[in-house]
Amino acid sequence: MNKLISIDDLTIDQINDIVKIAKIYKDGKLIPTFNLNPVIGIMFFEPSTRTNYSFQTAIHKLGFKFIEYNHDNSSSKKGESLQDTISTFECYCDLIIIRHPDKNIFNDIVFSKPVINAGNGPEEHPTQALLDLFTILDSKDLSDNLKISFVGDIICSRTIHSLIKLLEKYNNHYTDTNYTYNFVGYTELLDKHLEKILNTKIYPDIRSHDLNNLIEFQPDIIYTTRIQKERRHFNQHTNIIIDNDFLDKMPEDTILMHPLPRNNEIHTSCDKNPRSVYYEQMKNGVYIRMAIIYKLLIMD
Ligand code: NCD
Repeated sequence: MNKLISIDDLTIDQINDIVKIAKIYKDGKLIPTFNLNPVIGIMFFEPSTRTNYSFQTAIHKLGFKFIEYNHDNSSSKKGESLQDTISTFECYCDLIIIRHPDKNIFNDIVFSKPVINAGNGPEEHPTQALLDLFTILDSKDLSDNLKISFVGDIICSRTIHSLIKLLEKYNNHYTDTNYTYNFVGYTELLDKHLEKILNTKIYPDIRSHDLNNLIEFQPDIIYTTRIQKERRHFNQHTNIIIDNDFLDKMPEDTILMHPLPRNNEIHTSCDKNPRSVYYEQMKNGVYIRMAIIYKLLIMD
């Protein structure tokens, strides 16, 4: 494994390896890094708090080093091409972690070193999906018939796209399972988009604009996202807000997830509700990113 650009790059065995390693790190144990001393390049061309700083924390905890790209002080200001800028970083680094607003970045740019996609436009965010999966595994069994609600900006949320792909991998892996999806959000273009993401697989799902739909659906997992204002070419207003009263109408073992940052789609009254796991997702980001780096640079 020398790159993580899309969930499509991963086999179930590789995902299971990453989850296993992340668990070892979460339990506070260390794994030998065989005196490797890599320098990792962090190149973010879009804002980030959790992804960037959890990667930095993961690298520190592994005992490795990183350099961070700063767009405002770089030679891109002198007209250097993106390819040349990235190739320069590749001269100094053993692994590149990149976030970029262009969904085609991995087609347009040639990478000669291992690379991790930390978000390419609206397309994918595989490391987030892996930490989401790691969090789901705390309380759910993927060989059960899971019911999952995606709430929010389903078309433009790369975290949703990668997580659906990841869940579908397990849905196909376990022959007896049949996950059911429920999409609450903005359904314009949704059919076309989901077909693309899910490769036109026919699966049971429910689409709605109404959050109350979840009361009947009784999901095991609710995965919410903010409206991706920076990626939308049309205005979208929402009054989809999950508050604590609503959350208490869900089954006791439902989990409420969000990649964060949130705007107002999850009210802060939910924060102490035992169903809310978004702070746990944040913490798990460090362990899963340690595991991904370990898998790429050391394991194979
Ligand atoms: C997400 C992202 O950047 O796609 N955040 C994250 O990485 N944790 C979600 C978002 O920006 O809404």
